[in-house]
Amino acid sequence: MRRPIIAGNWKMYKTVAESVAFVQELLPKIETYFAIDKVVCPNFMAIPTVSEVLKDSPLKVGAQTLHWKQEGAFTSQTSGEMLKGYIDFVIIGHSENRAYLAETDETVNKKLHAALQYGFTPIVAIGETKDELEAHLTTEVLHKQLQGALANLDAHAASTIILAYEPIWAIGTGLNAKPEDANRVIGEVIRPTIATLFGEETAQAMRIQYGGSVNPSNMLAYMQQPEIDGALVGGASLKVDDFTQLIKQTAEAKGL
Ligand code: PGA
Repeated sequence: MRRPIIAGNWKMYKTVAESVAFVQELLPKIETYFAIDKVVCPNFMAIPTVSEVLKDSPLKVGAQTLHWKQEGAFTSQTSGEMLKGYIDFVIIGHSENRAYLAETDETVNKKLHAALQYGFTPIVAIGETKDELEAHLTTEVLHKQLQGALANLDAHAASTIILAYEPIWAIGTGLNAKPEDANRVIGEVIRPTIATLFGEETAQAMRIQYGGSVNPSNMLAYMQQPEIDGALVGGASLKVDDFTQLIKQTAEAKGL
Protein backbone atom coordinates (compact mmCIF):
# COMPACT_ATOMS: atom_id res chain seq x y z
CA MET A 1 0.00 0.00 0.00
CA ARG A 2 1.14 3.54 -0.70
CA ARG A 3 2.10 5.34 2.51
CA PRO A 4 -0.46 8.06 3.28
CA ILE A 5 0.74 11.63 3.67
CA ILE A 6 -1.12 14.46 5.36
CA ALA A 7 0.37 17.90 4.83
CA GLY A 8 -0.78 21.16 6.38
CA ASN A 9 -0.33 24.20 4.16
CA TRP A 10 -0.38 27.09 6.61
CA LYS A 11 -0.23 29.74 3.86
CA MET A 12 0.26 33.24 5.33
CA TYR A 13 -0.99 32.29 8.79
CA LYS A 14 0.77 32.00 12.17
CA THR A 15 3.65 34.03 13.54
CA VAL A 16 6.86 32.28 14.56
CA ALA A 17 5.67 32.02 18.17
CA GLU A 18 2.27 30.68 17.12
CA SER A 19 3.90 28.14 14.80
CA VAL A 20 6.14 26.83 17.56
CA ALA A 21 3.31 26.64 20.08
CA PHE A 22 1.20 24.77 17.51
CA VAL A 23 3.72 22.04 16.75
CA GLN A 24 4.58 21.59 20.43
CA GLU A 25 0.92 20.94 21.15
CA LEU A 26 0.35 18.81 18.05
CA LEU A 27 3.36 16.53 18.21
CA PRO A 28 2.43 14.40 21.24
CA LYS A 29 -1.06 13.86 19.81
CA ILE A 30 0.07 12.46 16.48
CA GLU A 31 3.57 11.06 16.85
CA THR A 32 2.46 7.46 17.30
CA TYR A 33 0.82 7.28 13.88
CA PHE A 34 3.99 5.76 12.47
CA ALA A 35 2.50 4.54 9.20
CA ILE A 36 1.50 8.02 8.04
CA ASP A 37 3.73 10.85 6.84
CA LYS A 38 2.81 14.03 8.70
CA VAL A 39 4.00 17.42 7.46
CA VAL A 40 3.47 21.07 8.36
CA CYS A 41 4.38 23.83 5.93
CA PRO A 42 4.82 27.07 7.90
CA ASN A 43 5.67 30.50 6.59
CA PHE A 44 9.35 30.96 5.68
CA MET A 45 9.81 33.14 8.79
CA ALA A 46 8.97 30.21 11.06
CA ILE A 47 10.74 27.40 9.20
CA PRO A 48 14.14 27.49 10.99
CA THR A 49 12.61 27.62 14.47
CA VAL A 50 9.91 25.02 13.80
CA SER A 51 12.50 22.80 12.17
CA GLU A 52 14.72 23.02 15.27
CA VAL A 53 11.79 22.21 17.57
CA LEU A 54 10.83 19.19 15.42
CA LYS A 55 14.37 17.91 14.89
CA ASP A 56 14.41 14.08 14.79
CA SER A 57 10.63 13.98 15.35
CA PRO A 58 8.13 12.20 13.08
CA LEU A 59 6.43 15.50 12.24
CA LYS A 60 8.22 16.86 9.18
CA VAL A 61 8.59 20.39 7.87
CA GLY A 62 7.85 21.60 4.37
CA ALA A 63 8.14 24.94 2.58
CA GLN A 64 5.32 26.48 0.56
CA THR A 65 7.55 27.13 -2.48
CA LEU A 66 11.18 27.68 -3.43
CA HIS A 67 13.09 29.41 -6.21
CA TRP A 68 14.91 27.24 -8.74
CA LYS A 69 18.14 29.26 -8.70
CA GLN A 70 20.71 28.82 -5.97
CA GLU A 71 21.00 32.58 -5.46
CA GLY A 72 20.60 35.79 -7.43
CA ALA A 73 18.81 39.08 -7.90
CA PHE A 74 15.33 37.72 -7.21
CA THR A 75 13.76 40.01 -4.64
CA SER A 76 11.50 38.20 -2.11
CA GLN A 77 12.51 34.70 -3.22
CA THR A 78 14.01 31.81 -1.23
CA SER A 79 16.24 29.14 -2.72
CA GLY A 80 16.78 25.45 -2.06
CA GLU A 81 20.28 26.33 -0.90
CA MET A 82 18.74 28.49 1.86
CA LEU A 83 16.17 25.86 2.83
CA LYS A 84 18.65 22.99 2.92
CA GLY A 85 18.80 21.38 6.35
CA TYR A 86 15.48 22.86 7.44
CA ILE A 87 12.87 21.09 5.31
CA ASP A 88 12.07 17.67 3.86
CA PHE A 89 9.11 18.64 1.67
CA VAL A 90 8.16 21.56 -0.55
CA ILE A 91 4.82 22.48 -2.11
CA ILE A 92 5.20 23.50 -5.74
CA GLY A 93 2.59 24.92 -8.11
CA HIS A 94 -0.06 25.80 -5.55
CA SER A 95 -2.99 27.41 -7.35
CA GLU A 96 -2.66 30.59 -5.27
CA ASN A 97 0.89 30.98 -6.59
CA ARG A 98 -0.31 30.19 -10.10
CA ALA A 99 -3.03 32.85 -9.73
CA TYR A 100 -1.14 35.61 -7.88
CA LEU A 101 2.57 34.98 -8.38
CA ALA A 102 2.84 34.07 -12.05
CA GLU A 103 3.57 30.38 -11.41
CA THR A 104 3.38 28.44 -14.69
CA ASP A 105 3.88 24.81 -15.63
CA GLU A 106 7.36 25.85 -16.74
CA THR A 107 8.32 27.40 -13.37
CA VAL A 108 6.77 24.43 -11.59
CA ASN A 109 9.05 22.18 -13.60
CA LYS A 110 12.15 24.25 -12.79
CA LYS A 111 11.25 24.25 -9.09
CA LEU A 112 10.62 20.51 -9.17
CA HIS A 113 14.10 19.81 -10.51
CA ALA A 114 15.65 22.20 -7.98
CA ALA A 115 13.76 20.52 -5.13
CA LEU A 116 14.92 17.06 -6.19
CA GLN A 117 18.48 18.28 -6.51
CA TYR A 118 18.41 19.38 -2.87
CA GLY A 119 16.82 16.13 -1.73
CA PHE A 120 13.43 17.65 -0.89
CA THR A 121 10.25 15.74 -1.69
CA PRO A 122 8.09 17.94 -3.93
CA ILE A 123 4.34 18.09 -3.43
CA VAL A 124 3.16 19.24 -6.84
CA ALA A 125 -0.31 20.80 -6.88
CA ILE A 126 -2.52 20.52 -9.94
CA GLY A 127 -6.21 21.17 -10.56
CA GLU A 128 -8.83 22.73 -12.76
CA THR A 129 -10.80 25.97 -12.30
CA LYS A 130 -14.57 26.09 -12.02
CA ASP A 131 -14.89 27.31 -15.62
CA GLU A 132 -12.72 24.45 -16.83
CA LEU A 133 -14.77 21.97 -14.81
CA GLU A 134 -18.01 23.27 -16.26
CA ALA A 135 -16.57 23.20 -19.79
CA HIS A 136 -15.58 19.52 -19.21
CA LEU A 137 -11.92 20.40 -19.62
CA THR A 138 -10.62 18.71 -16.45
CA THR A 139 -8.84 15.88 -18.26
CA GLU A 140 -7.20 18.19 -20.77
CA VAL A 141 -6.08 20.68 -18.10
CA LEU A 142 -4.60 18.01 -15.83
CA HIS A 143 -2.88 16.39 -18.78
CA LYS A 144 -1.23 19.66 -19.75
CA GLN A 145 -0.25 20.54 -16.18
CA LEU A 146 1.32 17.12 -15.62
CA GLN A 147 3.20 17.11 -18.90
CA GLY A 148 4.62 20.56 -18.20
CA ALA A 149 5.32 20.08 -14.51
CA LEU A 150 7.00 16.71 -14.90
CA ALA A 151 9.05 17.39 -18.03
CA ASN A 152 12.55 15.89 -18.22
CA LEU A 153 12.03 13.66 -15.21
CA ASP A 154 13.00 9.99 -15.15
CA ALA A 155 10.66 7.30 -13.89
CA HIS A 156 12.60 6.72 -10.68
CA ALA A 157 12.52 10.41 -9.68
CA ALA A 158 8.86 10.58 -10.69
CA SER A 159 7.99 7.74 -8.34
CA THR A 160 9.36 9.74 -5.37
CA ILE A 161 7.31 12.88 -5.86
CA ILE A 162 3.85 13.57 -4.47
CA LEU A 163 0.96 15.03 -6.43
CA ALA A 164 -1.87 16.98 -4.86
CA TYR A 165 -5.06 17.05 -6.88
CA GLU A 166 -6.68 20.30 -5.80
CA PRO A 167 -9.67 21.44 -7.84
CA ILE A 168 -9.25 25.22 -7.64
CA TRP A 169 -12.96 25.76 -7.08
CA ALA A 170 -12.70 23.66 -3.92
CA ILE A 171 -9.82 25.49 -2.24
CA GLY A 172 -10.82 27.57 0.75
CA THR A 173 -14.42 27.67 -0.44
CA GLY A 174 -16.09 24.92 1.56
CA LEU A 175 -17.20 23.50 -1.82
CA ASN A 176 -15.24 20.29 -1.60
CA ALA A 177 -15.23 17.84 -4.50
CA LYS A 178 -17.28 14.70 -3.86
CA PRO A 179 -14.90 12.00 -2.59
CA GLU A 180 -15.96 9.60 -5.38
CA ASP A 181 -15.35 12.30 -7.99
CA ALA A 182 -11.88 13.07 -6.65
CA ASN A 183 -11.17 9.33 -6.59
CA ARG A 184 -12.32 8.99 -10.18
CA VAL A 185 -10.21 11.91 -11.44
CA ILE A 186 -7.13 10.50 -9.72
CA GLY A 187 -7.79 6.91 -10.83
CA GLU A 188 -9.03 7.58 -14.35
CA VAL A 189 -7.15 10.72 -15.38
CA ILE A 190 -4.07 11.39 -13.23
CA ARG A 191 -2.68 7.86 -12.77
CA PRO A 192 -3.20 6.91 -16.44
CA THR A 193 -1.41 10.13 -17.47
CA ILE A 194 1.49 9.23 -15.19
CA ALA A 195 1.46 5.72 -16.66
CA THR A 196 1.73 7.14 -20.16
CA LEU A 197 4.61 9.40 -19.14
CA PHE A 198 6.56 7.04 -16.87
CA GLY A 199 5.02 3.56 -16.99
CA GLU A 200 2.42 1.70 -14.97
CA GLU A 201 4.74 0.84 -12.08
CA THR A 202 5.49 4.51 -11.42
CA ALA A 203 1.82 5.39 -11.72
CA GLN A 204 0.94 2.81 -9.08
CA ALA A 205 3.80 3.86 -6.78
CA MET A 206 3.15 7.60 -6.90
CA ARG A 207 1.34 9.10 -3.92
CA ILE A 208 -1.53 11.38 -4.86
CA GLN A 209 -3.30 13.56 -2.33
CA TYR A 210 -6.62 15.32 -2.56
CA GLY A 211 -6.86 18.96 -1.46
CA GLY A 212 -9.70 21.46 -1.25
CA SER A 213 -11.86 22.16 1.81
CA VAL A 214 -10.84 18.99 3.61
CA ASN A 215 -11.96 18.99 7.25
CA PRO A 216 -12.71 16.51 10.05
CA SER A 217 -16.27 15.99 8.86
CA ASN A 218 -15.37 14.92 5.31
CA MET A 219 -11.89 13.43 5.79
CA LEU A 220 -12.96 9.86 6.46
CA ALA A 221 -14.86 9.69 3.18
CA TYR A 222 -11.81 10.91 1.24
CA MET A 223 -9.42 8.54 2.94
CA GLN A 224 -11.75 5.59 2.26
CA GLN A 225 -11.19 6.14 -1.46
CA PRO A 226 -8.55 3.73 -2.75
CA GLU A 227 -6.88 6.18 -5.14
CA ILE A 228 -6.46 8.95 -2.54
CA ASP A 229 -3.25 8.67 -0.55
CA GLY A 230 -3.66 11.58 1.83
CA ALA A 231 -4.54 15.23 1.81
CA LEU A 232 -3.06 18.69 1.37
CA VAL A 233 -4.96 20.78 3.87
CA GLY A 234 -5.25 24.53 4.31
CA GLY A 235 -7.85 25.84 6.78
CA ALA A 236 -8.27 22.67 8.83
CA SER A 237 -4.51 22.37 9.35
CA LEU A 238 -4.49 25.57 11.40
CA LYS A 239 -6.20 24.03 14.42
CA VAL A 240 -4.49 21.37 16.50
CA ASP A 241 -7.66 19.38 17.16
CA ASP A 242 -8.69 19.39 13.51
CA PHE A 243 -5.25 18.37 12.29
CA THR A 244 -5.15 15.58 14.87
CA GLN A 245 -8.56 14.36 13.69
CA LEU A 246 -7.34 14.29 10.08
CA ILE A 247 -4.44 12.03 11.00
CA LYS A 248 -6.62 9.78 13.17
CA GLN A 249 -9.23 9.40 10.46
CA THR A 250 -6.57 8.57 7.89
CA ALA A 251 -5.32 5.78 10.13
CA GLU A 252 -8.86 4.52 10.64
CA ALA A 253 -9.84 4.63 6.97
CA LYS A 254 -6.63 3.00 5.74
CA GLY A 255 -6.63 0.39 8.53
CA LEU A 256 -3.27 1.55 9.95
P1 PGA B 1 -8.22 24.48 2.05
O1 PGA B 1 -6.83 24.72 1.26
O2 PGA B 1 -8.05 23.16 2.76
O3 PGA B 1 -8.32 25.64 2.99
O4 PGA B 1 -9.28 24.44 1.03
C1 PGA B 1 -6.21 23.68 0.59
C2 PGA B 1 -4.93 24.17 -0.05
O5 PGA B 1 -4.88 25.34 -0.44
O6 PGA B 1 -3.96 23.41 -0.19
